[in-house]
Amino acid sequence: SSTARKNEAGALEIGGVDVRDLVAEHGSPAYVLDEHDFRSRARAFRDAFAGYDVYYAGKAFLCTTVARWVAQEGLFLDVCSGGELSVALRAGVEPARIGFHGNNKTVPELRRAVEVGVGRIIVDSFAEIDRLAALVAELGRPAAVLVRVTAGVEAHTHEYIATAHEDQKFGFSISSGDAYDAVRRVQEAPGLELRGLHSHIGSQIFDTSGFEVAARRVLALHARVSDELGVQMPEMDLGGGFGIAYTTQDDPADPAQLATELTKIVEHECRAFEVPVPRLSVEPGRAIVGPSMCTVYEVGTVKQVGLDAGAVRTYVSVDGGMSDNIRTALYDADYSCTLASRRTGAVPVLGRVVGKHCEAGDIVVKDEFVPGDLAAGDLLAVPGTGAYCRSMASNYNHALRPPVVAVAAGLARVVVRRETEDDLLATDVG
Ligand code: LLP
Repeated sequence: SSTARKNEAGALEIGGVDVRDLVAEHGSPAYVLDEHDFRSRARAFRDAFAGYDVYYAGKAFLCTTVARWVAQEGLFLDVCSGGELSVALRAGVEPARIGFHGNNKTVPELRRAVEVGVGRIIVDSFAEIDRLAALVAELGRPAAVLVRVTAGVEAHTHEYIATAHEDQKFGFSISSGDAYDAVRRVQEAPGLELRGLHSHIGSQIFDTSGFEVAARRVLALHARVSDELGVQMPEMDLGGGFGIAYTTQDDPADPAQLATELTKIVEHECRAFEVPVPRLSVEPGRAIVGPSMCTVYEVGTVKQVGLDAGAVRTYVSVDGGMSDNIRTALYDADYSCTLASRRTGAVPVLGRVVGKHCEAGDIVVKDEFVPGDLAAGDLLAVPGTGAYCRSMASNYNHALRPPVVAVAAGLARVVVRRETEDDLLATDVG
C-alpha cells in the first residue's frame, strides 16, 4: 500500500510530499521512506503470520525510528551485530523481544547481549556455544538459545545470499550430524536454555518449495531430539528471505499463503512424529522495508554512447551510485527508475542510470527506457531501495551517505541525517 503517486505537475509525491520540495529542503540524493507503507507491510506480515512471532530483520535497514515502528506494530526485532543491538536498545525495544544473530559474535557482543537479557541468541558454532556457556557462568545469568541449522536446501537465488546449502559459513549441518551434536552441547551447558532450532535458507526467494523442504528437515531433527534426548524444544524459527518485486517481471509469494502452507507442513509433520507443535517465528527484512523506500537522485551528465549495429544507449549520471546502492554492482540486481520532477511526452530511449564513482561497474539501473529529453537538474526516483541499500552504503570515494527522510501525511522528517565532510574527517585522526 504505497502512497506514491504522480501529481498534476507530473512530479512524484510520496506520503503527500512532492519530492521536488523534499529535495529543495533536504538535498539529493535522498532515501525517501514511506511510513504508511512500512507500517502496513509490518502489520500485513504480523497478521499473515498470526500465531507466529515475526522478527523484523534489522540488517535490511535499521535506525531508531524504524525500530520504534517495528515495536509499535507488535513485531520482534532480529539484530546481527553489536551496532544493530545498540540501535535497538537506544530505540527502547524491549530486550526480551530481540533475537541476536551472527556467525562470529565477539565476546563483548555476547556479553552485552546476556547482560541486557536479549530474548534469544542464535548460536552458530561449537566454539560459540562454549564461549556463551562460559559467559553465562561468569555473569550468573542464563541465556535462551536457538541452534542455527543448515537444511541443505539449494534456494534459487544469488550464490552470495543463499545460505542453506552445505558449503558456506553459517550454521550446523543437519546431514553431517553437527546440528544434533550442537543441540546436545547446548542442552548439557548449565545456564543455556535450549529453545529450538533456526533455519534461514537465503534471501530474495520466490520459489517457496525451498522453505517447505527446509521446514520438513528441521522438523525431523526437532522430532529426533524429542525422541532420543527427551527434550521438547518449545520454539522453531524458519528465517526470512521472502522475495519482492524489483521489476515487473518478479512475482513474489503472498505472505498469507506462505504462512498457511508452512503451518500446514509443520502441523502435519508434528502429528506424524507425535511431538507438540512448537511456537513458530519468521524473520522477514526485505519484504517489509524493501518496497517502502525509494532513492531520489538529481540527474547530472547525460551522454549518448554508440553501441554495435548503430544502436545508442543514453548514460544518465546521477549524484549518487554504488556508494548508496551496491546491489546492482554486487548481485547484478535489477532496478527501474522514473522521472520524478515533471511530466514529459518525450519518446523513451534505451538508458542506463550510473553513479559518479570512479569505476565502470558503478551502475544503479542497468537497462531502462528513459525519457529522451532527460536533462541535468531532473529528479529520478529508483523504487524498492529500502532493503540492503542504506544498510550497505559506503563512503567510497569519500561519498557522504544520503539521509533517510520519512514521509507521512504531507510531512517530511529526517530520521537519518546526511553525512557531512566533518563526519568523514572526524575519523581521520592522522
Ligand atoms: N534472518 C537471517 C538469519 C538472515 O541472515 C537474513 C538475511 C534475514 C533473516 C532476512 O532476510 P530477508 O527477509 O531480508 O531476505 N545483502 C543481500 C541480502 C543478504 C541477506 C542476509 N541475511 C541483498 O542485498 O540482497
